[in-house]
Amino acid sequence: MALQAALLPSALSRQHPKKGASAVVKDTAFLSVPQKKAPSLCVRTHVATPTAPVATPGSSTSSMDKKKTLRQGVVVITGASSGLGLAAAKALAETGKWHVVMACRDFLKAAKAAKSAGMADGSYTIMHLDLASLDSVRQFVAHFRRSGMPLDSLVCNAAIYRPTARTPTFTADGYEMSVGVNHLGHFLLARLLLDDLNKSDYPSRRLIILGSITGNTNTLAGNVPPKANLGDLRGLAGGLAGKNKNGSAMIDGAEDFDGAKAYKDSKICNMLTMQELHRRFHEDTGITFASLYPGCIATTGLFREHIPLFRLLFPPFQKFITKGFVSEEESGKRLAQVVSDPSLTKSGVYWSWNKDSASFENQLSQEASDPKKARKLYELSEKLVGLA
Ligand SMILES: NC(=O)c1ccc[n+]([C@@H]2O[C@H](COP(=O)([O-])OP(=O)(O)OC[C@H]3O[C@@H](n4cnc5c(N)ncnc54)[C@H](OP(=O)(O)O)[C@@H]3O)[C@@H](O)[C@H]2O)c1
Repeated sequence: MALQAALLPSALSRQHPKKGASAVVKDTAFLSVPQKKAPSLCVRTHVATPTAPVATPGSSTSSMDKKKTLRQGVVVITGASSGLGLAAAKALAETGKWHVVMACRDFLKAAKAAKSAGMADGSYTIMHLDLASLDSVRQFVAHFRRSGMPLDSLVCNAAIYRPTARTPTFTADGYEMSVGVNHLGHFLLARLLLDDLNKSDYPSRRLIILGSITGNTNTLAGNVPPKANLGDLRGLAGGLAGKNKNGSAMIDGAEDFDGAKAYKDSKICNMLTMQELHRRFHEDTGITFASLYPGCIATTGLFREHIPLFRLLFPPFQKFITKGFVSEEESGKRLAQVVSDPSLTKSGVYWSWNKDSASFENQLSQEASDPKKARKLYELSEKLVGLA
């Protein structure tokens, strides 16, 4: 609750790191976004934009005066160098309403990916972030703040998946890699940037953490062994340090390491964290916290460590047998929707899409929605990342 107290003054003052020229992006859809603390866009201060303002084609001065304009939003997306993150970055940048900060561990790869995806120069900024190092997370936050950009939306998207691994690898801080990157790195990032989100004057500020069907045992996919299960979190409490350091590398404290389960466990952590952030901060800050399952994007780099036969057969299997296949482009649009769609402002929700690509609030498994576990996970994570 220390952060809650720390957040309150900024919630009241709502100052911006840089005040200056107002952008003139008109987005009438946003005018209907319910805002608890700032009921009208008309009275909000404008802030400097990271790129040139985008004028609404055909708007007359008088119509602009009547409908006060919305500046370009700034969204940080982790792991935007490939797959879903890149597709969402492209989808958002293309609208002209968003400037995308691509938070990536491999700067050159991200630069090439943005170019080959056809993202326009000036529509994005690449900043270095390696989630496998808590120092790097802190450096990213400092770097981002120095840029003077406001933060309107944060997407915790990056992940690694080591499905065939039987021995753990570790982050710079000594935590098992899947949980270290997918959960702990993002946990620290989200906690540090909450204050920045809270300072934003954007009408709908959002913090989104990618979830997955595979962590949810109330689904068919979630019942494919090994099933996710955090147990009593004894492995996490022990620091996920692995046997050689007299601990377990698995969250539930299991003796043997299982890379596929570690990924699924990390995804439960992502979904529990989103709900705990919602419980702790939504009411005071108005920030929307959300998670999602974007569909099975069977072609992304997530499966790079799987055996070649799996990588060959998985996409057609998902396309023609389960029919759960979603293209990277479609999944990017879905994530972009969760970032910016005025109808998706509800907080604490795990979004999914039906066969017609319509979004709906999905149910989480019992474990992935257990408030006691969420609280314990949150408190242990705070300790592991040095916030408590
Ligand atoms: N693919 C699916 O079917 C599916 C389904 C449900 C949920 N998801 C979720 O969607 C998200 C994106 O996955 P994807 O399928 O798009 O996979 P992907 O193409 O492999 O993208 C993962 C991204 O994470 C980055 N990353 C990995 N380790 C990192 C680190 N230490 N620091 C910073 N960035 C790091 C990767 O960077 P590099 O480019 O440098 O490797 C890459 O940009 C994940 O959260 C995943 O759990 C995916």
